[in-house]
Amino acid sequence: METLFIKGGRKLGGELDIVTAKNALLPILAGSIISDKNVILKKVAKFSDVMYMVKILESLGVEAKFEGDTLILSPKHAYAHVVKDEYTKKVRSSVFLLGPLLSRFGNAKIAYPGGCNIGNRPINLHIKGLEALGVKIEEKHGYIICDGKNMSAGEVHLDFPSVGTTENLMMASVRLKGVTTIYNCAREPEIEDLQNFLNSIGCKVSGAGSSTIVITGVESFKDCEYQPIHDRIVAGTYLIACAMCGGNILLKGCEKKYNQALIQKLKQSGAIVEDLGKDIEIKSNGKLKSIPSIETQPYPGFPTDLQNQILAMQTITKGTSVVVENLYESRFKICNELLRMGADITIKDRMAIINGVERLYGANVVASDLRGGAGLVLAGLVADGYTTVEDIYHIDRGYLSIEEDFCKLNAEIQRIRD
Ligand code: EPU
Repeated sequence: METLFIKGGRKLGGELDIVTAKNALLPILAGSIISDKNVILKKVAKFSDVMYMVKILESLGVEAKFEGDTLILSPKHAYAHVVKDEYTKKVRSSVFLLGPLLSRFGNAKIAYPGGCNIGNRPINLHIKGLEALGVKIEEKHGYIICDGKNMSAGEVHLDFPSVGTTENLMMASVRLKGVTTIYNCAREPEIEDLQNFLNSIGCKVSGAGSSTIVITGVESFKDCEYQPIHDRIVAGTYLIACAMCGGNILLKGCEKKYNQALIQKLKQSGAIVEDLGKDIEIKSNGKLKSIPSIETQPYPGFPTDLQNQILAMQTITKGTSVVVENLYESRFKICNELLRMGADITIKDRMAIINGVERLYGANVVASDLRGGAGLVLAGLVADGYTTVEDIYHIDRGYLSIEEDFCKLNAEIQRIRD
C-alpha cells in the first residue's frame, strides 16, 4: 500500500512542464488500431490508465515499444477484436475501442465496463450512436457484441454531448463510404486532438471543437508521428494548488485557452493569472475570496474533472460557495474526508454548500477516486500539520507522479511505500 505524506503550510514556487493529457492519449491509443500503419506517439505520459490501454492493445496483437517517452505502435498484425473483462474492469475507457475495432475488423466484442467510484457511467449513448450507423448490438454474458457488417455512413444526433460517444463514433466512421455527420457533439479539446491524430493517419475529419463533426470515409492510411496536447486537468489542479497555498508558479507547455472557465474563477478569488503564450503563470497571496457559484458543465463550461479540487479550495476561502455537480452523481465523496480536516460543508443532492474556515488541519484521509484524491492532496498542502492520503493508486491514474511535481514546486510531500 502506498500513501502520500504531506507537511502543509508551504508557499509554492518554481516551474513545471505539463505532461500530455490522459484523456487525449486514451482515445488516440484506441484509434491506433484503426489502420495497419505504424503510429509513433511522442511525449507519452505513462499514467497507469495509459499503460493499461497499451496492455489492451498488446492483447489485441498490436506491437508496442517505448523508447523513453516515445511509444511506437505497430498495429499491422492486430488480429483480435475481443476485449476481456480483466481489462475493462481496470480501464473504463476500453469502451473507446468499440469504434476502432468496428472500423478495422467490422466487428467488436468488449466486456461491459463496470460502474466506477464517481457514479454509474452507463454506455447507452455509445450503443445508440453505433446503432444509428447500422451496427447490430447484442448484450450477452457480460459482453457487448457489435456486428458492423451493415454499417453505413449517415447522420447521428447525440442526446447529450458525451465525450466518449463522440470519440467512438468519429473512429467508427472513418472508413465508411460517404459522409457521416455527428450532431450535438462534445467540444472538449481532446476531441479536436483526436481529430488531428486521425487526420495524421490519413482520415478526413473536420468540425471537432464545434458541435457538428463531419467524417468522410477513406480507404487508405499512412504512418504517422503525433504528439498529443497537454493535460489541462493536471495544469488546472496545480493552478488551484498555488491559488490555495499562495506563491508564484510557472506551468510550461500549457495553453490558457483550454482552462478559461477555471482561470476566470481563480481571478474572481483574487489570484493573478498571466497568459505567457505556451506557459501560464499564477501568483497568489493565499488569501482568497469565495466563489459564490460553481457549476460543472460540458466544455467550455467548468470541468467536472476540476470540481473536487476547486471545492477543496473553497473550504479555506472567505465566504460561502455553492458547488453544483451536473455530470456525475457521486462526485462529492471527497467531502467526508475534508470534514475530517475541519471543513464546513453541507451536501444536498448534487449541491455542496461550503462555508470557508480559517484553516484546515492535517488528518489521515483516503482517496476514493482520481480527482477526489487530487483534491485531498491540495487540502493537505494548505492544512496545518501533517496529512496522509491513502489509496493513492486512484491518483496515479491521472497524475504521473504528483509528489515529484509538488516537490519541484517547493511543497513538502513524499510517497511512503509499505
Ligand atoms: N453518459 C451516459 N451514457 C453514455 C455516456 C455518458 O449517460 O453512454 C453520461 C455519463 O454517465 C456522465 C456524462 O454522460 O454523467 C458525461 O460522460 P461522457 O461520456 O462525456 O464522459 P466520458 O467520455 O466517459 C470523459 C473523461 C472523464 C470526464 C468526462 C467529462 C476520458 C477518458 N474520460 O469521460 O474524465 O470526466 O469525459 O468531461 O476522456 C477523469 O479524467 O477524471 C475523468 C473521469
